[in-house]
Amino acid sequence: MNPYPAEVWLNGQWLPHKEALVSVFDRGFLFGDGIYEVIPFYRRRPFTLNEHLHRLQDGLNAVSINYRVDSLRQIIVEAIDRANLMDGITYIQVTRGVAPRKHRFPSDAQPTVLLYTTGYDFAGFETTVAEVVLVEDFRWHRCNIKSVSLMANVLANQYAVETGMTETILCRDGVVTEGSHTSVFFVRDGSLFTHPEGPRILPGITRRIVLELARKLEIEVREEAIRVDEINRVSESFLTGTTTQLTAIGTILNAAGDRFQLGKTAGPVTRRLQQAFIELVDRS
Ligand code: PDD
Repeated sequence: MNPYPAEVWLNGQWLPHKEALVSVFDRGFLFGDGIYEVIPFYRRRPFTLNEHLHRLQDGLNAVSINYRVDSLRQIIVEAIDRANLMDGITYIQVTRGVAPRKHRFPSDAQPTVLLYTTGYDFAGFETTVAEVVLVEDFRWHRCNIKSVSLMANVLANQYAVETGMTETILCRDGVVTEGSHTSVFFVRDGSLFTHPEGPRILPGITRRIVLELARKLEIEVREEAIRVDEINRVSESFLTGTTTQLTAIGTILNAAGDRFQLGKTAGPVTRRLQQAFIELVDRS
């Protein structure tokens, strides 16, 4: 199967992906100066589209890229239609555009906008159990911005691959923040814990949905970070994200090489939330 989409939408035009070319002077290429978004669709219907478009607009505003995302709504629907896929993701990237290389913002660059869909098989997340490795969060201090500059996330994720784990989770000042491309939750004494929103984490859309589901299920929610030295007091943990959905964590390996085992299957709170998430997606 070709891992690339047959066509992509670039600056207002549908093109075969090989013909979709961007200047080497695009600031996305030179500086990683852009914002991106990954939006799921199930049975051809985008899921949480408003929330994702809202976050994309917030990110663009935060870095003063002058682009309105409203017109993309229609293109997303068209992309799913043209790709003729049932389930998958839409990837959107907006960079500051093409300009001679200077750090300061160019005065007249037009944003470069790329959008495409690819198929994704979401099935089976509820039976997967992830093994995660914990390392220091060496990212910048504005992790709430979904920047295409993902070097630190790439290195963190590769570390998981090289240590034979599924995902790397990060800690800053002794508390767990999030994963290389996921949000992280813990269950302690029956309550659900996750790092509060702010500059240390991406405001995950799946995270927000899971918090809403937990409140509906009357699970006590505490948007408080878990300290690394209290991980041995948690009974369950899981990752959330657009592609990860809601995946249980079975093992946490820390920097000292200590392995904390949480279980071979998802715990009871995780299972309830997974079930509620599946029902929400089915109803969408
Ligand atoms: N990653 N935290 C980080 C650092 C992420 O990159 C992501 C998403 C999440 C989860 O956010 P959401 O639930 O909105 O997908 C949390 C995307 C999918 C990616 O980079 O591919």
